[in-house]
Amino acid sequence: MRYRKLGRTSIEVSEIGYGAWGVGGGQQWKGGDDDESLRALQRAFELGVNFIDTAYAYNEGHSEKLVAQAARTAPRHVYIATKVPPKNRIWPARPGIGIEQVFPYDYVVEMTEKSLRNLATETIDLQQLHVWNPEWIARDEWRRAVEDLKKSGKIRSFGLSINDHQPDSALAALKTGLIDAVQVIYNIFDQSPEAALFPLVQQLNVGVLARVPLDEGALTGTIDANSRFDKDEFRAFYFKGDRPRQVEEHVKALQKDLAGVPGTLPDIALQFCLSHPAVSTVIPGMRRARNVESNCAVPDRGPLPGDTLSKLRKHAWNKNFYS
Ligand SMILES: NC(=O)c1ccc[n+]([C@@H]2O[C@H](COP(=O)([O-])OP(=O)(O)OC[C@H]3O[C@@H](n4cnc5c(N)ncnc54)[C@H](OP(=O)(O)O)[C@@H]3O)[C@@H](O)[C@H]2O)c1
Repeated sequence: MRYRKLGRTSIEVSEIGYGAWGVGGGQQWKGGDDDESLRALQRAFELGVNFIDTAYAYNEGHSEKLVAQAARTAPRHVYIATKVPPKNRIWPARPGIGIEQVFPYDYVVEMTEKSLRNLATETIDLQQLHVWNPEWIARDEWRRAVEDLKKSGKIRSFGLSINDHQPDSALAALKTGLIDAVQVIYNIFDQSPEAALFPLVQQLNVGVLARVPLDEGALTGTIDANSRFDKDEFRAFYFKGDRPRQVEEHVKALQKDLAGVPGTLPDIALQFCLSHPAVSTVIPGMRRARNVESNCAVPDRGPLPGDTLSKLRKHAWNKNFYS
């Protein structure tokens, strides 16, 4: 494993972090179980992972509790990032909805305290807002909450989880100086953070969590025109209708261009994220130990060579399957 500084914080995070949405299970992710998830988390710690991204909303605290249970017996300190869910439970934040309906001051503090209890800790290493709307920039609610939570020691650092495929919506917030890290969709299909967000985070020394690096599984090469998911789970929505066929078409074109490049498609997808120096950690979702093992071997491969990165440029795919 290799480690990078999380922006201007003193935290050194593993290049492979652990996305803990899937291990939360519930209605959103089916097909896993807690015992298997605990084995996967423990294997990740053995292989040097020291950073986990969870959220209160990942099955109403279940992911947080499971992560905390696993971290208690880890061989080293595990840094945990979590998130305050929007009070109106609407993802992503919608234009025109005021912050008083989404992140009122008292609510942000109360939810942070709930997460502290779920995580059985006195300080959250990185607390994030689970959605962000740039219209809230000048509002006092979130600014005061961040300052007070830091002063009281309940959080160590603060970040934003940026709305899907809208990296530029966080630019103004970064300039307030209150943001220590951002979490953004960054993968071979969505390379848009490279245009404005990454240069700004580098200038301001803000950490970056590259989320959904495998495009919810599309970049694993396991989804084809016939793929179907349990009707209630999140991925049945994400890969609805004709989308599996579109994925198959894009992935086939990608694999054709990657002929001769060493590594599997998931290896190359994670390597792609780590090849950008603005990225502090990439956080694939992993419920199985075998996925943990292959993903944790990726940092040793180093960055992708320039000619491979050039080939990948043309595979950027402008879509929003979250809508
Ligand atoms: N709004 C937000 O803030 C937000 C939204 C989405 C995600 N996130 C964060 O980002 C993390 C990552 O996103 P995600 O989990 O949704 O999607 P993802 O990382 O793009 O993909 C996860 C899927 O890839 C599979 N996988 C992982 N490694 C693999 C490998 N080496 N080979 C084959 N398959 C592999 C996983 O399988 P198994 O699970 O079966 O191992 C899972 O089905 C989340 O867990 C969460 O922490 C945040």
